[in-house]
Amino acid sequence: MESSIASVTSRYIEDMKLPDLRFGQSPLAAPMWAVLLKRIPLDWDYSPVVYNQSGQWRFGITCPAQLAYMENIILVTGGAGFIGSNFILQWIEREGTSVINLDKLTYAGNLRNLLRVSSDPRYRFTQGDVCDGELVRGLLKHHQPRAIVHFAAESHVDRSIRGPDDFIRTNVHGTFSVLEEARGYFEGLGDQDRQSFRFLQVSTDEVYGSLGPNDSPFCETTAYAPNSPYSASKAGADHLVRAYHHTYGLPTLTTNCSNNYGPYQFPEKLIPLMILNARAGKPLPVYGDGLNVRDWLFVEDHCEAVRRVLAKGRAGETYNIGGWSEKRNIEIVETICSILDELCAHDPVVPHRKLITLVKDRPGHDRRYAIDARKIEREFAWKPRESFESGIRMTIQWYLQNEEWVKEVSSGSYRKWIATQYS
Ligand code: NAD
Ligand code: DAU
Repeated sequence: MESSIASVTSRYIEDMKLPDLRFGQSPLAAPMWAVLLKRIPLDWDYSPVVYNQSGQWRFGITCPAQLAYMENIILVTGGAGFIGSNFILQWIEREGTSVINLDKLTYAGNLRNLLRVSSDPRYRFTQGDVCDGELVRGLLKHHQPRAIVHFAAESHVDRSIRGPDDFIRTNVHGTFSVLEEARGYFEGLGDQDRQSFRFLQVSTDEVYGSLGPNDSPFCETTAYAPNSPYSASKAGADHLVRAYHHTYGLPTLTTNCSNNYGPYQFPEKLIPLMILNARAGKPLPVYGDGLNVRDWLFVEDHCEAVRRVLAKGRAGETYNIGGWSEKRNIEIVETICSILDELCAHDPVVPHRKLITLVKDRPGHDRRYAIDARKIEREFAWKPRESFESGIRMTIQWYLQNEEWVKEVSSGSYRKWIATQYS
């Protein structure tokens, strides 16, 4: 307890870039110094604290709200998931400013993804539910972020078919709760801060429904036509985001991205599932005829695009993100098998393609997704850095090199899911 107070206090003081105020002789000394030095305006909400450092009792102050604004903090929800954790790692590396990560740590959330930044003072984690408005309100008040990047969601279509409740709760109600708190927070900001505040909704191409073989790719004006409980819950959330902009003037941005792949993806999704099954000599379950098409994007390219939209996007606008990389599922699985034949020639079953098994189709399975990404390319000069060929090789190599991560996520509830889904 003692050390945690000391470390919180010292973190705030260091972050403030103030002279070290921890050595004040009374609870008033530190705020007095700060005001005298004109480093903190008088109307700030000081909290004197007493803490123990190396056996000595000391006094200090915290004023996290103001500090946060100066420091340019963002609040990320769902940052322990696949895309959220890649986003935070990239944010800290490239933007260099602080991030608060709010994540419930469902089966899909994994703090191991964030080991690289776990002791970095710019990274802070709070375990909690986006449906908990009071918690979100407290975080906004305490940290005063300049933006919210909302990744938190239930994200797996097959799970939404077996049990839609959590999807409605987190994706619809959770987004509503974060929007409500964002609105209250936004309305309390000063003029200048309101100008720069943004709420960014991370959405998906699935809200647009399914394309025929000759249809043009989805653009930002394509009508929503969701077909699964997952995509319907994301569509509901997106509509709420739109309404909060239109009705309350909340400066929102929405991104609709195509299928992501890369490091830290939970192996319930096509690409990591196929890599792990192929290595273990287990069947590679391809739904239906294997000819459904997805448009694949390396996760770091998605994260880069989200950063670009956050920096430059116009409030109220939607931006589609995709890699112009449409592939049939069977092609994806065959590509993975060929790369594994080369890299893992001693696996139990080689060639790995012998494991490909066509299985019962996903109910309501969308036939084709494809994204028209011209708007983000034109407006922000964004382009994916990775081709599918380079990205898939890097991804396979990552799974081969991170056996501990794989072992940890493949235990317990994961095994139960695989047994139920593929029985
Ligand atoms: P994921 O399932 O890997 O991660 C979701 C994260 O949200 C997890 O860390 C989980 O613990 C957290 N979470 C779930 N419910 C929560 C709650 N109630 N409160 C707080 N945290 C909660 O998902 P992902 O693939 O990283 O997707 C992230 C976002 O991007 C989602 O909104 C998804 O719809 C969207 N998206 C995903 C893809 C894709 O291909 N994976 C493509 C486009 C858009
Ligand atoms: O398009 C963006 C979406 O991509 C995101 O919004 C979702 O969060 C994300 O999960 C993903 O949804 P998909 O349903 O497209 O992804 P998934 O990896 O589950 O499946 C990709 C394709 O592969 C799909 O056509 C179904 C098929 N598939 C999937 C699995 C898990 C199989 O053939 N066999 C499988 O075992």
